[in-house]
Parts: sequence; structure tokens; C-alpha cells
Amino acid sequence: MTLSIFKCISCDNEYDIQEIRYRCDCGELLEIIHDLSQSIPNPNDWKKSLDGQMTEIAFRRYQAVIFPSLPEDKLITLFEGDTPLYDISPKFPQFGSLHLKHEGLNPTLSFKDRGMVSGVSWANHLGCENVICASTGDTSAAMAAYAGAAPNMKGIVLLPNGKISPEQLAQPISFGALTVGIETDFDGCMKLVQQLTEKHNIYLLNSMNSVRIEGQKAIGIETLHQLNWEVPDWFVIPVGNAGNISALGKGLRELYELSIIDKLPRLAGIQTEGASPLYESYKNGFSELVPQQAQPTKASAIQIGDPVSYKKAIRELKYFDGIVEIVSETELMDWKVQIDRLGISICPNSAVAVAGAMKLRDAGLIKQKEEVVVILTAHGSKFSNTSVEYHKNSVNNFANQTLTIEPLLEELERTLKL
Ligand code: F0G
Repeated sequence: MTLSIFKCISCDNEYDIQEIRYRCDCGELLEIIHDLSQSIPNPNDWKKSLDGQMTEIAFRRYQAVIFPSLPEDKLITLFEGDTPLYDISPKFPQFGSLHLKHEGLNPTLSFKDRGMVSGVSWANHLGCENVICASTGDTSAAMAAYAGAAPNMKGIVLLPNGKISPEQLAQPISFGALTVGIETDFDGCMKLVQQLTEKHNIYLLNSMNSVRIEGQKAIGIETLHQLNWEVPDWFVIPVGNAGNISALGKGLRELYELSIIDKLPRLAGIQTEGASPLYESYKNGFSELVPQQAQPTKASAIQIGDPVSYKKAIRELKYFDGIVEIVSETELMDWKVQIDRLGISICPNSAVAVAGAMKLRDAGLIKQKEEVVVILTAHGSKFSNTSVEYHKNSVNNFANQTLTIEPLLEELERTLKL
């Protein structure tokens, strides 16, 4: 076979990778299958070679497993990746170990840059001049930035009007994308963008485009490399449209199939109480997804009731003996603030995963000796309103209220109790 093909996740139909195509003729999602025996003929040698490639960007370093078909001269990068993996185990002895993989330290402050290095580079390779996405804020920021970095590409973003943070809105505008607010929620924007791209020649860069998923595999692969290929017991990750958990699973599965790793971690996907379609399906033995009207949440990036990549996510959750949990608004905000206090600024969506890990540990589903990696998906600075509002309100458990005083030394001394 050629190096990469599209394959239907349901009927196994195959398509040429050079086609612009997001779904199978049967209507199901596609995934990309690479002939890894060609791109990585000797997995052991490949694994050993990675340590000598730390000056390469992450996408290039792992490209043989991520997306070997992308020609080198088409790459559009903003030097994403190589994000920190914080070991916070000393503060949390209830775990065997606890690491936070901070994807908020990418160029546009979210993990979406990992998918856009592959998505926009592939669009560049295909010669697409117009790219589009629907977004809860982070996909649009990343797509706009990478389209801006490409030689000849215009970004168009569809956003649920009034439902994203001011910092997220500022990003696509600044990066020069045509920005359209739509009087609906994310699911409504997603439907519209699918209808539009079926009819018009505009390249779709949501994660239902499987090229994006390939780029996001780098998150799990890089984490394992940082852990010297010692596989943790759990990866815990927030779930919205369910692309990222699908990417994490696919990347780890491929490493396992290559015998780069010899153990499988378990996956835990975490949602909010008001936007929990995957959780409901999980509780019913991974029954057919029942779309929800997702309720407003501080974790606005995952306020999604009809996740597009649901079937891929289910498949990975089953393969990795996964579980799904939900957390409340209080739980997620209290954990956001407690992690922020360690000097690690996280967004409310990432905090959903942290709160989920804590809840699963408290319930004994994650056991005392188990090693856990939580994926943080965006930086706290993209959601500063949530922090300001939380700390203003003394009722909140960890509020750190700002004090305001007159410019007088005595008053300052009194305030500081000196
Ligand atoms: N965390 C953040 C910060 C996100 O922006 C998203 C998704 C997720 C988690 C969930 O990832 O959708 O792959 O399950 N944001 C998309 C967007 C929907 O449009 O930016 P997922």
C-alpha cells in the first residue's frame, strides 16, 4: 500500500489520502492508517534515534508514526510541542505518581496547535487557500495562527456568539481570520460548517478531519518519551468533541503495536455535569450516543452535547479499559485554583480532568500506587475571567480577594499587619 490511506471506522472502505474527504460514503468517520512497517522498519532503532533528535520540533521527531506522508517542504510550524511534564507527586502522596502534561504552553496556548501543524500543513500540501472550522475558541485560535503562518491561506472561523472568552476571541481576529459569531451553540456551528464544506471548496479543519487527529497523537507519544517510555497506569483527559481522547488512544495503540511500549495505560475521559453525553453512554455500557443540549459551564471549551468523534472515542475507551467520569462546577473551579497555586496556570477545561483524577482516586477507581498523567489542554490566561470572578467571591473555598487601599504607609502597614 501507499504510505497512508483513509479507512472508514465502520465499513473498512478505503480512500486515497490525497482526496479531500472527511467521511466515508457510508457516512461514518474516517481514520488514517499508515504503513508503519515502511515508515518504521526497525522500531527499536527508531526509538533509540529519538533521543538524538531533541533539537527537531516534536512533529518532525515523531513524524514516522504521526504522519509520514506529509512532505517536509509543506510543513507549517510555529514550534509547537515539547511542553512541560510537571511532576507534582510530592504534593499528592495519595497517588503512586502524578504528572501534568501542560499543553497550554503551546504557541496559541492550547493543545490545538498539535493538530494544526498537521492539519494546516496538509492543507498547504493540497493547495487549499481557504480553511474553516467551528470552535469553542481554541481550535479557531490555532487554525487562524497556522493559516496566518502559511504562504497563501485564509482562515474562516465560526464561533458560538457570546460563548467564548475575550482572550479566545482576540486570537482569530488578531491572526487575521474572518471571524463569524453565530447565534447558536458549538453543536449548531459544527452542523453548519459540515453543511458548508459539503457544498463549497473550503477545507474543514475540525477534528472530524482525521489529519488533525494524527497531529494530536504527538501529545501522548511525547509524554511517554519524557517518561523514558515507562507507561503510566492512567491518562486522564477532558472530553468535549472527543477528538483528543481519540488521538491519544490511537497514538498509544500504534506505539503498542510497534512494541515501542509493552504495556497499555488505562484512559479516563472527564466531562462536566451539564455536558456529559459520553458519560451517559458509558454508564449504559457505551450505548448509542444520545445528543444533549449542553448546559453552560465554566469549562466553556467543552460545552458540547453532540461530540463528532464519539465513535472513535468509544473504540479507544474500550481498547484501553477506559472509564468516563463527570465533575461539578465547584469541583472543577476549586481544582483549577489549587493547581494555579502551584504556579501552573490551567484553564477550567483542564481542571475538569484534574478534578476527575482526584474524584476517581477518592472513589478508589484509581488505586493508591497507580501512576497518573493528566493532560492539561489550555493555559489559564485564555480564561482569566473565570479566575477573577472566582477570587472576587469570598464564598469560594480558595478565594484570594484583592485588597484596595489609599496610598498611605500607615494604611499599608495596617493591611499587612506590620
Ligand atoms: N480542552 C480545551 C481547552 C479545548 O479547547 C477542547 C476542545 C477540549 C479540551 C476537548 O477536546 O474536543 O478533542 O474532546 N475544544 C474544541 C474547540 C471543541 O473548538 O476549540 P476534544
